[in-house]
Amino acid sequence: MDFKRNIIVTGGAGFIGSHVVRLFVNKYPEYRIINVDKLTYAGNLANLKDVEDRPNYVFVKADICDFDKMAELLSQYHVDGIIHLAAESHVDRSIKDPFTFARTNVLGTLSLLQAAKNYWESLPEGYEGKRFYHISTDEVYGALELTHPEGIEPPYTTTASSNQHHMAYGEEFFHETTKYNPHSPYSASKASSDHFVRAFHDTYGMPTIVTNCSNNYGPYQFPEKLIPLFINNIRHRKPLPVYGKGENVRDWLYVEDHARAIDLIFHQGKVADTYNIGGFNEWKNIDIIKVVIKTVDRLLGRQEGEDMDLITYVTDRKGHDLRYAIDSTKLQKELGWEPSLQFEEGIEKTVRWYLDNQAWMDNVTSGDYQKYYDSMYKNR
Ligand code: NAD
Ligand code: DAU
Repeated sequence: MDFKRNIIVTGGAGFIGSHVVRLFVNKYPEYRIINVDKLTYAGNLANLKDVEDRPNYVFVKADICDFDKMAELLSQYHVDGIIHLAAESHVDRSIKDPFTFARTNVLGTLSLLQAAKNYWESLPEGYEGKRFYHISTDEVYGALELTHPEGIEPPYTTTASSNQHHMAYGEEFFHETTKYNPHSPYSASKASSDHFVRAFHDTYGMPTIVTNCSNNYGPYQFPEKLIPLFINNIRHRKPLPVYGKGENVRDWLYVEDHARAIDLIFHQGKVADTYNIGGFNEWKNIDIIKVVIKTVDRLLGRQEGEDMDLITYVTDRKGHDLRYAIDSTKLQKELGWEPSLQFEEGIEKTVRWYLDNQAWMDNVTSGDYQKYYDSMYKNR
C-alpha cells in the first residue's frame, strides 16, 4: 500500500508520544506512522493497544543512538517526516545519572539528525517536502522569579477562551526569544539537542522546527511524575512526598492539547521557527496537590479532603527550578491553537482515567508492562 506520507515518531510508546501516535494514526489513515522506541522503563506498548493493529501503524524497537538502524529505517520506509519525542524525561533521574541523559537526548538526537540529513540529501528532491520536528521543553529557559506568591492577573493578553487559571505568579514569562539558561542535567541535555537541531537548519538547510512545551498531564503518564504518582499514592493511602515547601510553580497543559498543537505545527508551522506551547495555567505544586487529593477522594466516595494528611514535606529537589510560565501567544495568534480544556475538567478527566484504569497502573508498578513487547511483537 502506498502512503501519502511516511512519518517516524520517536518515543511513541511514552506518555506524550503515545498520544501523538494515536492522534496521527486515527486522523490520517493515508499516512504511515512508524513508532521508533527503545522501550526503556518509560516506554509502554500497552499505551497503544487501541491502534496497534491498524494498517497505517508500524512499531520498531530501536535505539535512536543506533545511527545505522536510523539510516536503515529512513530509507526502508521512505520517511519524509520525523516527530522526535524520544528522550530521557525525568528531572530526578537526570540528577542521579546525567550520562544517560547526554547519551539519549544529545547523541541520540544528533544520530537521528545525521541519518535524516544523509537520507534526504541523497534523494533527487532533497529537503523538499521534508520535516524534522523536535519536541522540547520550557525547562531549557531556566527558572522565573516568583514575585507574586499570592498570584496576580496575568499581564498578557491572550485569545484563549479557556485561559484556565487566570493567575500568574510573576510578571515574567518564557517567550520564544528568551535566552536559554538550563539548570538541571535534563534541561541541559534538552537545550543541547535543541541547539543541534537548529544548527542542522542553519548549516545544511534541513527543514527543522522546535517547540518548547510546559508540563503535560493526562492519561498514560509514567507514575514517577507528580500527578500520576500522587493519584496512585492517594488511592493506596501512601505518603505524598512534596519537595521543599511545595511552592514551586508549574504551567500545566492537558496532553491531548499538546498533541493537537504538534499536529498543527507539523503541518502548518514555519520551517526554522520555534513555538512555545503552554496552558496559561500556572499552579503552585501544593495547590495542585490539594485539588488532586480532593478529586481522588470524591471519585472514590471518600470524604473530600480526608487524605490531606498524606501530604509529607520532604527534602527539596537539588537545583529545583522555582517557576515556569510559558507565553504561547505566538502559537495562538499565528496558527489559531488554544487549549481546549479548563484545568478543573482536565484534572477530573485525568483522575477518573487513572482510577478506571487501575490495571494499567498495576501493570506498570509491577513491571509486567515490560513483558508486553515479547508477548505481542517479538515473533511477528
Ligand atoms: P516519557 O519518558 O514518557 O517517554 C519517553 C519515550 O522515549 C519512552 O517511550 C522511551 O522508551 C523512549 N526512549 C527513551 N530513550 C530512547 C532511545 N534512546 N531510543 C528510542 N526511544 C527512547 O517522556 P514524555 O513525558 O512523553 O516526553 C516526551 C518528549 O516531550 C521528551 O522529549 C520531553 O523532553 C518532551 N517534553 C515533555 C513534557 C512533559 O511534561 N512530560 C513537557 C515538554 C516536553
Ligand atoms: O516543564 C516541562 C517538564 O515537565 C518536562 O520537560 C519534563 O519532562 C517533565 O518531567 C516535567 O518536569 P517537572 O520536573 O516539572 O515534572 P515532575 O512531575 O517531576 O514534577 C512537577 C513538580 O512537582 C516539580 O516542581 C517537582 C514536584 N514534585 C515532583 C515529584 C515527582 C514533588 O514535589 N514531589 C514528587 O514526588
